[in-house]
Amino acid sequence: MAMGIQADSSWTVRHLVSEQHIVSLNVAENYLLLPIQDDAPEGKICIVVNNEQKGTVMNVRLARERVDSYVPFELSAYKGQYVSVDIQGVPESAVCWKELKMSDSFDMANKECFRPVYHHTPAYGWMNDPNGMFYKDGVYHLYFQYNPYGSVWGNMHWGHSTSSDLMHWKFEGSAIVPDAWGAIFSGSCVVDHENTAGFGKGAVVAFYTSAKSTPWGDVQSQSMAYSLDNGKTFTKYEGNPILTSSERDFRDPKVFWYAPGKHWVMMLAVGQHMEIYSSVNLKDWKKESEFGAMQGAHGGVWECPDLVEIPVEGTRQKKWVLICNLNPGGPFGGSAAQYFVGSFDGKTFVNESPTLTKWMDWGKDNYATVTWNNAPDGRCVALGWMSNWQYANNVPTRQYRSANTIARDLTLYRVGEELYLKSTPSPEVKKARGEKVSKPSFNVAGEYEVASLLDDNKGAYEVELVIQNQGASKIAFCLLNEKGEKVSMYYDLARRQFVMDRSESGAVDFSKDFPAVTVAPADTDKELTLRLFVDRSSIEAFGEDGKFVMTNLMFPSLPYNKMRFTSDEKGYTVKSLKVYRLQ
Ligand code: FRU
Repeated sequence: MAMGIQADSSWTVRHLVSEQHIVSLNVAENYLLLPIQDDAPEGKICIVVNNEQKGTVMNVRLARERVDSYVPFELSAYKGQYVSVDIQGVPESAVCWKELKMSDSFDMANKECFRPVYHHTPAYGWMNDPNGMFYKDGVYHLYFQYNPYGSVWGNMHWGHSTSSDLMHWKFEGSAIVPDAWGAIFSGSCVVDHENTAGFGKGAVVAFYTSAKSTPWGDVQSQSMAYSLDNGKTFTKYEGNPILTSSERDFRDPKVFWYAPGKHWVMMLAVGQHMEIYSSVNLKDWKKESEFGAMQGAHGGVWECPDLVEIPVEGTRQKKWVLICNLNPGGPFGGSAAQYFVGSFDGKTFVNESPTLTKWMDWGKDNYATVTWNNAPDGRCVALGWMSNWQYANNVPTRQYRSANTIARDLTLYRVGEELYLKSTPSPEVKKARGEKVSKPSFNVAGEYEVASLLDDNKGAYEVELVIQNQGASKIAFCLLNEKGEKVSMYYDLARRQFVMDRSESGAVDFSKDFPAVTVAPADTDKELTLRLFVDRSSIEAFGEDGKFVMTNLMFPSLPYNKMRFTSDEKGYTVKSLKVYRLQ
């Protein structure tokens, strides 16, 4: 055994030159708890056992002046052994050296006032895009871009959560971890019922982008891994990477089974276009076509594609919809999701409306939207990352960063010659409704305050509204709290728009791009129906059950517990106002 090392849970820290350090210990407990400061520069950390590096090097923002949160650095595999942790790029004066801890457990109890109640979040650490979503044996699996070593982007793993009702999620930890080919970027999972790949009947096969930063530049290629225990653990395929390119932005494989052609299809985002590949065994892929030149919005790089067949409401018809996330270039700045409606023959996608740009969501915080493979009853269920690359790393949470949207069932509806996506809150949302308060119909002349929305308002509820216009030019209301922080919303009847303004919603100054007014087209000829999903730090507005959707984050210092209506000279009637607790 090495010199001077005690056989208990204490450790020694040796400081070398040039910000290099060695923490040595006989491992008695599961975790070394690392003190993190979100805005500290990245250092490097790796495990050395018997002079050999184990696993890959992780980037870690060890605390220099203050501790924002802790993350667990797992050593359980080495219990009873002498281990060194090699740490580089942190000054000797940093506070982390005094704040390191060893522990057998890691406290994941929620410490955040902004953490949503009924939206998915990781227990700790950073999250971006939803990945690898598949449904099997009554369970919805959701993987996600995950950094378990801090609450800002980095060290991309696939985190994993599961749910039976799309509303209550169980955090399962990391499922796929970085390796020699790089970090694990976005991708998808399929269930290989017919064993086309030879990993086993019913194997879950994951496709992801291996993203490696080298001194000569960044490289992206596609890799695969398979799971024989329903997505809990994955074995990486020995022939990785399975698809390489000389393009720099070459990522986010979405794979699905194309039944009429009896083959698999892979959609890839490449620079500012999509590439479509086909395969019969999930291992060998052939490029079939490209899509995107001169189509839709091109304000930024195209990412996270999806291609799904969706029913047209009121008909027996189905159409193919290509979902294309882009960053930047969204309608209100930063990242957003656009889509194209058309036809697909297994090889080529043809957009029916090449001159139009269609947006999935009219807020600032719905990105990387993709759908579940194998969703039950032929449903097409979509989920987005509820943030925006403009400020995602700076939002005022610490223990975790980012949530997902609520799940949305997609259909198509027709307006004149055009087909548009309708994003309806998934039916499971209604099943999670709890206690209800409702107000009788009231005619709004002047200001009308709907006092307390729910008695012990925890900031997690749905407001369901039906409004009859009586000649008003503007129908305005806001959600507000005791401090006067508010989210203002209104229908502009002349412009046929629904508008949301979060500039006075609470904490807004962490980014110049956060205060914002977002605008959606709305059909104001009919009775207005609106469902607002409020969950501590977000509001999702669904007009006409999803003909428009607007998703925006907010960070009020107290929950919004009141709603206030205002009217112009002619007024309108609120025919129905219901508030449901969601938990
Ligand atoms: C989209 C994205 C993807 C990429 C991932 C990396 O938000 O940039 O294109 O795979 O995030 O975390």
